[in-house]
Amino acid sequence: MVDATENSDELSYDELAAQVSLSRVFGLFKAYARQFVAVLVLILLSSVAGIAAPFLLRAIIDEALPSGNFHLLALMTGGLIGLACLGTLIGVLQVLITSRVGQAIMHDLRVRVYAHLQSLSLGFFTTARSGEIQSRIASDIGGLQALVTHAIGDFTRNISLVMMTTIAMLALEWRLALFSFLVLPIAIWVSHRVGRLREEITYEQQQRIADMSSAVQEQLSISGIILARTMGRTNHLTRRFIHASEGVAALEVRSHTAGQWQWGVIDIVLQALPALTLLLGGLLMNQGVSAVTIGTLVAMTALQEQLLWPLEEVLEAGVHFRTTRALFARIFEYLDHPIEIGERPDAVIHDPADIRGAVRLDSVRFAYDKAQAPTIEDVSIDIPAGSHTAIVGPTGSGKTTLGYLLARLYDVDAGSIRYDGVDIRDLSFQSLTDTLGVVTQEPYLFHASVADNLRFAKPDATDVDLIAAAKIAQIHETIGALPDGYDTLVGERGYRFSGGEKQRLALARVVLRNPRVLLLDEATSALDSATERAMSEALATLAKDRTTITIAHRLSTVRHADQIIVMTDGRVVERGRHDELLAMKGVYANLVRSAD
Ligand SMILES: Nc1ncnc2c1ncn2[C@@H]1O[C@H](COP(=O)(O)OP(=O)(O)OP(=O)(O)O)[C@@H](O)[C@H]1O
Ligand SMILES: [Mg+2]
Repeated sequence: MVDATENSDELSYDELAAQVSLSRVFGLFKAYARQFVAVLVLILLSSVAGIAAPFLLRAIIDEALPSGNFHLLALMTGGLIGLACLGTLIGVLQVLITSRVGQAIMHDLRVRVYAHLQSLSLGFFTTARSGEIQSRIASDIGGLQALVTHAIGDFTRNISLVMMTTIAMLALEWRLALFSFLVLPIAIWVSHRVGRLREEITYEQQQRIADMSSAVQEQLSISGIILARTMGRTNHLTRRFIHASEGVAALEVRSHTAGQWQWGVIDIVLQALPALTLLLGGLLMNQGVSAVTIGTLVAMTALQEQLLWPLEEVLEAGVHFRTTRALFARIFEYLDHPIEIGERPDAVIHDPADIRGAVRLDSVRFAYDKAQAPTIEDVSIDIPAGSHTAIVGPTGSGKTTLGYLLARLYDVDAGSIRYDGVDIRDLSFQSLTDTLGVVTQEPYLFHASVADNLRFAKPDATDVDLIAAAKIAQIHETIGALPDGYDTLVGERGYRFSGGEKQRLALARVVLRNPRVLLLDEATSALDSATERAMSEALATLAKDRTTITIAHRLSTVRHADQIIVMTDGRVVERGRHDELLAMKGVYANLVRSAD
């Protein structure tokens, strides 16, 4: 499955567009079938009303005016005005309904993409560019919204106008009507060409916009700024951004001007049409065709006018729809991304009170890239409930990866992980998060107050709960010293806190959830001795009645662990207690020696 997703980057636009079947797009509209029927009824109504207008016009010119019957004239002009009012009313109703529906559909789509992305495995996000996802949700769906909302409204309105005008023209004088329709094939062909052109430009455009927004997100983040400043690359990045922005601007111009010449041809043809119709009408009248009267000619040119601009709009809308296909292609690509880690329908649900917290790994194997050698190979660890297990090993040995597997951020390729005897893949997500609390190597904090960050773990936590948790995590005093205490805003990703402070905040957050198993991936950065002591005390308090798994970089915390697992290159090479391992004079003994 991973392969399929990696290949999707290489799909050409045509292949992607092929996935956007019309039925799939219509599927999005299904829930709003009633509203669409209402719009159809309105269209029919306006068609009927519209057909009557030119006939009234002809009657006025050919009968009411020549006969001098003022009563008839007043009646007929009144009728014309009434029809105009009715047409406008219907048009407004149509726009109201279609823009509501358009918005609702876009809202559904946005939420679906967001919810789907929320359920994708970590692997998707490690390969996705930062900013790309944001761009698809904001810019692509945003683009669809503008197009669909206006396009649906205008399109239905214009289609109805075109339909009723066509019928009216045929009924008025079929020869002149057919002559007028001669322009249609040219217009349709041109709009098809222009549509194809703009569709491709739009796709490229959205890609470039995504490029630009991901550059902004990557480079204008705190880490990005630090990197660029310290490396003296700020000007270089600015120049690159100028280049990217120029590309976007040029494409924007191209997308607006693409096909202007072709449209120009249509315009000329359309404008010549009334003159040619009068010429043909004159010829027919000369030949004594009685159906062609001056009234008929006036009504016919009026109808042409009424036919041609909506027709142009319909063709233009066709072009818009083509560009929406480019947007749909990018959105569907995300929606089609398979959910690799799912919850079984019959997943086991543990009562939180019954969770003991025993963990068992059996011959676990895992590879990030299935084509490469595994990152974790044949790892078996038995962690009894309530015990403290430390995992140590050189950098890159797979400790964090093992933590990801324990949290089911990835699924194992072979072997199994069990909590209280239940395979992690059979456990409900809820029971898994009830069982396991995780503090990652680089904890993430939201841009919100300290209290809000803590409450993310437990929304109904009281202030007293927060303080108690912060005290256990040995961070209460640090928070108290902040300008606004618990209400202090955490900057982007918690940059206002040191590494050790962030870890203890994350620890306090986990404490609020009170999980039976605690997994702590220690920060790699060396902590000062005061922080280290605080961390150790926090952990000691926490470890009571709890299974604790620490991925340790500070070997001092490991000394008292019930078992120490030593990993190198994804394998367990040694295991035992501190003294036993020292006596082995192996990898662990070396690590301890180099740490001193
Ligand atoms: N998303 C990923 N895709 C591919 N390879 C990865 C990915 N994440 C980690 N790796 C690789 O897997 C190996 C194990 O990484 P891991 O982060 O588990 O090491 P670690 O033992 O936690 O190291 P440290 O002590 O530095 O934190 C490394 O070689 C790393 O390059
Ligand atoms: Mg690590």
